[in-house]
Amino acid sequence: MYCIKEADRLSGVVIVPGDKSISHRGIMLGSIAEGDTYLHGFLEGADCLSSISCFKKMGISIDRNGSEVTIHGKGLHGLSAPSDVLDAGNSGTTTRLMSGILAGQHFSSTITGDESLKTRPMKRVISPLTQMGASIDSNGGCLPMTIHGGSLHGIDYKSPVASAQVKSCVLFAGLFADGKTSVTEPAISRNHTELMLRGFGASVFTDESRHYTEVEPEPRLIGQNITVPGDISSAAYFLAAGLISKNAEIIVENVNTNPTRAGILKVIEAMGGDISYINERTVSGEAVADIVVKSSSLHGTTIEGSIIPALIDELPVIAVMAAYADGTTTIKDAAELKVKESNRIDTVTENLSAMGCDITPTDDGFIIHGGRPLHGAQIRTHKDHRIAMSFAVAALSASGETTLDDPDCVKISYPGFFDTLQKLGQ
Ligand code: S3P
Repeated sequence: MYCIKEADRLSGVVIVPGDKSISHRGIMLGSIAEGDTYLHGFLEGADCLSSISCFKKMGISIDRNGSEVTIHGKGLHGLSAPSDVLDAGNSGTTTRLMSGILAGQHFSSTITGDESLKTRPMKRVISPLTQMGASIDSNGGCLPMTIHGGSLHGIDYKSPVASAQVKSCVLFAGLFADGKTSVTEPAISRNHTELMLRGFGASVFTDESRHYTEVEPEPRLIGQNITVPGDISSAAYFLAAGLISKNAEIIVENVNTNPTRAGILKVIEAMGGDISYINERTVSGEAVADIVVKSSSLHGTTIEGSIIPALIDELPVIAVMAAYADGTTTIKDAAELKVKESNRIDTVTENLSAMGCDITPTDDGFIIHGGRPLHGAQIRTHKDHRIAMSFAVAALSASGETTLDDPDCVKISYPGFFDTLQKLGQ
């Protein structure tokens, strides 16, 4: 149980931990590259540690000293059969991305996870990997899943969902295929895999206008030196806190502003937020900036269509911003929220309603009539890290006291979150 009260003032500089998506990809590509890969600023969250433990079980030696990681890669065909089940914990990214690599191995392996991950849909990766020639047993399309890898064929895959996890899984499998593999998505999803694959030496072609990506098979992947930028999904909580609090000025440094991830920045501008960027630069192929936010009078907006994949993980905290904004915010085309670490349409609605917000859930999002004062409540996190952090932020501008039933779940992506939040209020 964790207790949060209304804050009078928030100010300071925040340095958020490394990007979760990039940290996972660095472990995976480093493991199948030749030679050493160095990750500086690796995210020490439980999800990324699950990726490390899975690749260690396949014979990869990985040294970690805090956020400094060295992966002693063994090349595209250097993994060995795990003697044990691969446990992905709470991590959908570990499961789905690693599945693509496992499909290309000449051994069988089983992936499992925690109670939440075992309910999440895996048919979205089973289907393309089966078309490529892998044979996969699963528990009705969920974990545990056993992948019998082998010789794969290149395919042209039309994904029904805009999901970087699905796209990355198929592209990773494509590295082991007998010909070119392509993925076409309904909208562009985050492109960290494409950027990093190129950095490691793979041949990747993208046509953004068609949401199309292709990869050539059997590249020589060479170990890289990668600086992981700060995670915009973690920065989002402090951006939101600064905007909705009455007396705030916060600088969040070293944030990845890759446009395929940074939809929240456009939404903040559309809601009238006072946001500015300094020190814009490129780090390991990714756009990075320091971001300044100040207390703002936000107004409602509509969030729909192709921007959704670029802010899917930020929708819980955007819903919190909408609750404090004047007027109506409508979020559509976000049915994917139902299959995240919790059903986030339900968990956001339950908790914002408990705080006194006027929110109506829909089949693919919410309608929020903002501007009512919120009050403290007992928040049920459903062990979902993004729900815990979003409602910690909501609590800072609500009257009275808010409690979180399971604050520890923030360790999935942001172990130091509460310490950082507390310092801003001092
Ligand atoms: C991720 C992609 C997104 C996101 C997840 C991380 C990734 O999932 O929600 O937190 O690193 O590729 P989907 O691809 O399922 O949308």
